[in-house]
Amino acid sequence: MVNDLFIKRRSYRKYLSKEVEEEKINQILEAGMLAPIANGKYYNVILKVFKGEELRILQDTLVKETGNDNTYKAPLVIAIYHKGENVELANLDVGAIIENMLLEARDLGLGSVFIYSICRLTRSNEALKKYNELDGGYILRSVISVGYVEDFNDVREVEHRFSVIK
Ligand SMILES: Cc1cc2nc3c(=O)[nH]c(=O)nc-3n(C[C@H](O)[C@H](O)[C@H](O)COP(=O)(O)O)c2cc1C
Repeated sequence: MVNDLFIKRRSYRKYLSKEVEEEKINQILEAGMLAPIANGKYYNVILKVFKGEELRILQDTLVKETGNDNTYKAPLVIAIYHKGENVELANLDVGAIIENMLLEARDLGLGSVFIYSICRLTRSNEALKKYNELDGGYILRSVISVGYVEDFNDVREVEHRFSVIK
């Protein structure tokens, strides 16, 4: 039987306003840092935490510019910036980091969701452009939203989602 945590990890897009405790944030970040990274180039990655006032500004800007808060009003957003020149490898690194963080969040009793859509907006929208890059050439590749949820609706059978050849 597969580990329960894989079944319990689902996408949650509605959060309670309760803040995520600092200790839990650090555990989620640590889980991300333990992910496999191409050629072990961990220095290619920066995880940036958005919460409080800084997050509110991001969410207000999203609503103002697009009519929609793509972070689902979460109390915590973690953005993954990557400076690798090979975008294919960068995206694979980011996927591995994110999956670790989503699983850790769920293990800590938190809901979360993988959100790519914001990246595209930060490239095309003037007001959102400031989120696209950090000093040093680190480019936004994806974000996750995290927060407490009212209910976990994660009871499901492990259905066959992919084709498998063996
Ligand atoms: C690369 C990638 C990008 C995604 N981007 C978004 C997104 O922009 N917004 C969103 O609400 N969900 C996004 N998701 C979440 C998927 O829609 C979700 O994981 C999928 O439907 C399976 O559902 P589950 O997470 O509940 O198992 C993304 C997932 C992945 C892997």
